[in-house]
Amino acid sequence: MTTGTLAGANDRLPADVTIEPMAPGDRPAVDALVERCFGPERRGRTANLLRGTSAPVPGLAFVAVARGALVGAIRCHPVAWQAPFARPRPLLLLGPMVTAPERRGQGIGLALLARVVAELDAQALDCALIGDAPYYGRFGWSADVTQEWELPGPVERHRLLLRARHPALYGGRAKLMAAAQAGLPAAA
Ligand SMILES: CC(C)(COP(=O)(O)OP(=O)(O)OC[C@H]1O[C@@H](n2cnc3c(N)ncnc32)[C@H](O)[C@@H]1OP(=O)(O)O)[C@@H](O)C(=O)NCCC(=O)NCCS
Repeated sequence: MTTGTLAGANDRLPADVTIEPMAPGDRPAVDALVERCFGPERRGRTANLLRGTSAPVPGLAFVAVARGALVGAIRCHPVAWQAPFARPRPLLLLGPMVTAPERRGQGIGLALLARVVAELDAQALDCALIGDAPYYGRFGWSADVTQEWELPGPVERHRLLLRARHPALYGGRAKLMAAAQAGLPAAA
């Protein structure tokens, strides 16, 4: 794992920015920032279908705050992964992850990601996401075992990434779906 990247992530954070746990009251500001970064068309996207109506997982959701204003956010949602003829297993889906356009390139995204990765490691949790491999690859996400996964919507295969303690367990054909669809809890 790229511990060097992790360790350096907070060093780059601008002095006016703090990373804090996401509180329920942050939700309207987070939603507004996500809408600003992705636009309204995000609602039909595959990652959104996977998240469904689930709540962010407590302890795996953080915000970046600068002088009282929200400038970044990250969270994980519960989803389900199911191999053929097997029971669905809980998995995490990271995202959406956003940095306010005027604060990009300052290390806020990496600091948010480092916080989540530290928690994933501390709790020994596996996590999938749909995103850019060059960005997330530094933290151990890869498309190596996700190529035969079936999702509820379209996905660019090279952007379907997994970070797992034992990636081989996720190889081959499988379905990734909303937790509720698999009968798994959609809230912790
Ligand atoms: C992706 C995003 C969160 C990155 O936030 P950020 O605060 O600008 O990220 P950082 O400043 O921490 O980036 C650090 C590094 O990652 C690089 N980087 C940023 N986006 C990248 C991408 N999509 N692919 C590869 N590298 C990327 C930066 O160039 C920078 O490189 P450096 O460390 O060599 O200087 C931000 O661009 C964003 O909100 N984008 C729109 C929403 C989105 O696409 N979210 C991700 C999918 S859920």
